Amino acid sequence: MTLPRRVTLIRGDGIGPEITNAVVSIFDAARVPIEWEEADAGLACYQKHGTPLPQETLESILRNGVALKGPTTTPVGEGFKSVNVTIRKALDLFANVRPTKSLPGVVTRFGNVDIIVVRENIEDTYGAIEHRQTPDVAQTLRIITRQGSMLVHRYAFEMARQLGRRRVTCVHKANIHKHGDGLFLECFRAVASDYPDIVADDLIVDNACMQLVVRPETFDVLVLPNLFGDIVSDLCAGLVGGLGVAPGGNIGRHHAVFEAVHGSAPDIAGKGVANPTALLLSALQMLDHLGMSSYARYIEHALTATLKANIRTRDLGGVATTREFTEAIIARLAEVPAHAEHEYSRVITVPEPPPPTSGLNWSLVGADVFVEWNDIAHLPAMPEQVARLSLRMMSNRGTKVYPPPTPPITMVNWYRCRYLASQPIDVADVHALLEELRQRGIRWMQVELLCADGDTPMFSKAQGE
Ligand code: NAI
Repeated sequence: MTLPRRVTLIRGDGIGPEITNAVVSIFDAARVPIEWEEADAGLACYQKHGTPLPQETLESILRNGVALKGPTTTPVGEGFKSVNVTIRKALDLFANVRPTKSLPGVVTRFGNVDIIVVRENIEDTYGAIEHRQTPDVAQTLRIITRQGSMLVHRYAFEMARQLGRRRVTCVHKANIHKHGDGLFLECFRAVASDYPDIVADDLIVDNACMQLVVRPETFDVLVLPNLFGDIVSDLCAGLVGGLGVAPGGNIGRHHAVFEAVHGSAPDIAGKGVANPTALLLSALQMLDHLGMSSYARYIEHALTATLKANIRTRDLGGVATTREFTEAIIARLAEVPAHAEHEYSRVITVPEPPPPTSGLNWSLVGADVFVEWNDIAHLPAMPEQVARLSLRMMSNRGTKVYPPPTPPITMVNWYRCRYLASQPIDVADVHALLEELRQRGIRWMQVELLCADGDTPMFSKAQGE
C-alpha cells in the first residue's frame, strides 16, 4: 500500500481548468497515489485576490516540493510579471526539461524524433537586467555563470545516463560570445569528462537549428543557455505536432514545477476542444520525477493506444472534444497490461552548484567607459591620458572607430571608450578619469572595469581592434 504523495495543483487560466480536469480524471482512473493540494495563480487569481501569485501558492509548492501547473495568462506590455518566470526564480528552478517525441497517429514531417531539450532556466537575458543608456540605445545584459552552467550540464548528463541516452549536445554561440557562451561551453566540457559513457559534442546554435529541421532524428539530448533554449525548444515542439503535445518540467534542487509549453489559449478557452496531451505528458514527467515511473508508463500506453486508434483533438486534425479524448484514454487504461507499483524509477539526481572560483590572481588593467555623444559627425573629445590610463580605442555599436581609420558605419550617440594601463592600476585611476569627464561635460552612464588573469584579458576585443 503506497501512501499518497501530496502535489500542488494550479489550474490556471483559459484552457487551464479544462486540461487539468482531464489530467486529474485520468490520474484518478489509473489510481495514481497522488493527493492534489489546490492553489491559485494567474489572471483570474489576480482579479480575485489582487495578486497573480499569492504567498500561499508559493508556500504550498515549497511544502510539497512538486507542482503541476496549468497555463496562466500574462498581460502583454503592462500589468503583472509572468507567473511562470516568477515561480522559476523564486524556487530556483534551474533547468527546464522539454521532451520532444513523435507520437503515433500525429502526422508530422518526421516520424522518429526523440529529443530532450534541457534549457538553463534562470540566467542569460532572463535576469531582465536592462537599461536605456541614451534615448536611442537600450542594453539587455546577458549573464552566464559557472554555477548556473554547471548545474544545468550536470543535470543533463545525469538525466542522459538515467534514461539510457547516448549523446548530449551543447548548443551555443561561443564563436561570437567568447566569454558568455564560452563559459557555458567550458563548463559543458568539464562536466562531460565525468561521463565517458556518453558522447558529448557541441554545435553553434544557427547550425543546430538548420540541422534540427533537416534531420532531427540524429539528435538526442540538447543543453542550451536560456534564450536559445526558449527558441529551440519551441522549434522542436513544431517537429512533433506543435504546442498541443509539448510537455515540460522546471527542475530545481529542492522543488519542481511541471507544465505544458503552451499558454492559456484564450481563443479556444471554454469551448471544450483543448488538447490535454501536453499537460498529461508533463504530469507523466512529474511521475518519473517522483519515482512513480510505472504509473507514468501505464498512462502513456493508454495515451498511445488512443492516438493509434485515431482519436485526436482538433489541433491534431481530429474531431474529439477534450472530454471525449480524456474518456478514450480512461477506457484504454483497462486494456493496458497490469503494472507493478514502482517497478522502476527514473528519478534523476539533482546536482549541487560548485563553490565560487576565486579571482584573486586578477589584476585591474583598465576601464571601458560608455559615453553619450550627440555630435555624431565627430568622435567624442575624450582625454588621451588620465592618471595611468591611456585611451586605446573607441567603438560604436561594437565596431572600432578610433584610432583611425574610422569605417563608414552608421553611428549612434553611444560610444565605448577603452582605457588601458601598461601596469596594474587601482580604482583611483578610474575615479580620476571619471572626474576628468565630469569636468569636460561628457556624460558617461556605465563603467566596466577591465581585468586580466595573468596576461590573459578577461574582456572581449571590439570588431577591428
Ligand atoms: P498559446 O500557447 O496559449 O496559444 C497559441 C495557439 O496554440 C492558439 O491558437 C491556441 O489555441 C493553440 N493551443 C495552445 N495550446 C493548445 C492546446 N492544449 N490544445 C489546442 N490548441 C492549443 O499562446 P498565446 O496565445 O501566445 O498566449 C496566450 C496566453 O498564455 C498569454 O497570456 C501568454 O502570456 C500565456 N502563456 C502562458 C504560458 C504558461 O503559463 N506556461 C506559456 C505561454 C504563454
